[in-house]
Amino acid sequence: MVGIPEAFARSTVEREGDPGAAWLAELPGIVDELLARWGCVPDGEVMHGGVGVVVPVRRRGDEVDAVLKVSFPHPGNVHEPDAFAAWGGRGAVRLYEREDERFAMLLERVQASTLAEVEDGDEVVTVAGRINRRLAVPAPPGLPRLRERAGSWEEQLRKDAEELPHTLPRHVVDAAVATVRELGSVQPDVLIHGDLHPRNILRAHREPWLAVDPKGHAGDPAYDGGTLLKSRALALLEADDLRKALHRTLDVFAEAAELDRERTRRWAQFHAVQAAFWGRRHGFRIARGGPRLDWLVEFADRLSELLMEPS
Ligand SMILES: Nc1ncnc2c1ncn2[C@@H]1O[C@H](COP(=O)(O)OP(=O)(O)O)[C@@H](O)[C@H]1O
Ligand SMILES: [Mg+2]
Repeated sequence: MVGIPEAFARSTVEREGDPGAAWLAELPGIVDELLARWGCVPDGEVMHGGVGVVVPVRRRGDEVDAVLKVSFPHPGNVHEPDAFAAWGGRGAVRLYEREDERFAMLLERVQASTLAEVEDGDEVVTVAGRINRRLAVPAPPGLPRLRERAGSWEEQLRKDAEELPHTLPRHVVDAAVATVRELGSVQPDVLIHGDLHPRNILRAHREPWLAVDPKGHAGDPAYDGGTLLKSRALALLEADDLRKALHRTLDVFAEAAELDRERTRRWAQFHAVQAAFWGRRHGFRIARGGPRLDWLVEFADRLSELLMEPS
């Protein structure tokens, strides 16, 4: 029986409460059952992310290294295998088997090293941009369409601006609302990763880098540019000139992803305003309260303003 990492068990119970504890109690049995069904044996330390355990395995009979990923049964994890299936190994790891009832997949195993370990910021953003481009294929039916969320995004922005104490200038909030109205409601049926950040891009052999952990949304590929930029924001702090570093990141990403720069900037500005309000309402995973949260919220405010400028 494989052991479930302690930190993963703790964070699952903290986030999900009793249903989390109940699922954890079943998890070793689920893993054993799937290993047996798919003819696999464990082959290394169990890894994990925020929502799933990842067990390195070998499949008897062939020489293929794989991983078994079992996620907490949450609606946000339903479309992960659909996205992998649509990509067919292009830009993302291959899907070998799926058991949707268990939120489980057998995936191609790649290296444990992630793009987050690369120090050169331009390289990180270039690789992420190329992956974004590669993943932009026609979306299969049945995936959540982001354009259908535009209405609730706009409503939330208005509600937050009204209810929360904040110092964001009116025109900065209005710009985010305009983005949702003008870009949000007309998004194409393109498959996008949905959680594109450097820790979800792993080093590989078949291709230099491959994506894991997609949400599997259909929408504007430039939307994920905003997701990526948000994940880069803290790295930009070390820059002497934040404005310059931010706009350079946008230039490099848009070029590598073959996306319209202005569209990418507008989505990034929207993500920054959303984060500024989210932080005030819920805190962030890396700071739930106190001076560190205040500081992060102020930083999101600053990004929201700096991203107003076309370049
Ligand atoms: N196909 C894979 N090959 C090798 N390691 C993987 C693979 N998929 C995931 N991992 C490892 O497990 C970690 C968590 O996986 P991820 O799919 O991102 O889970 P979560 O949904 O919980 O974030 C990754 O950061 C990586 O270290
Ligand atoms: Mg992940």
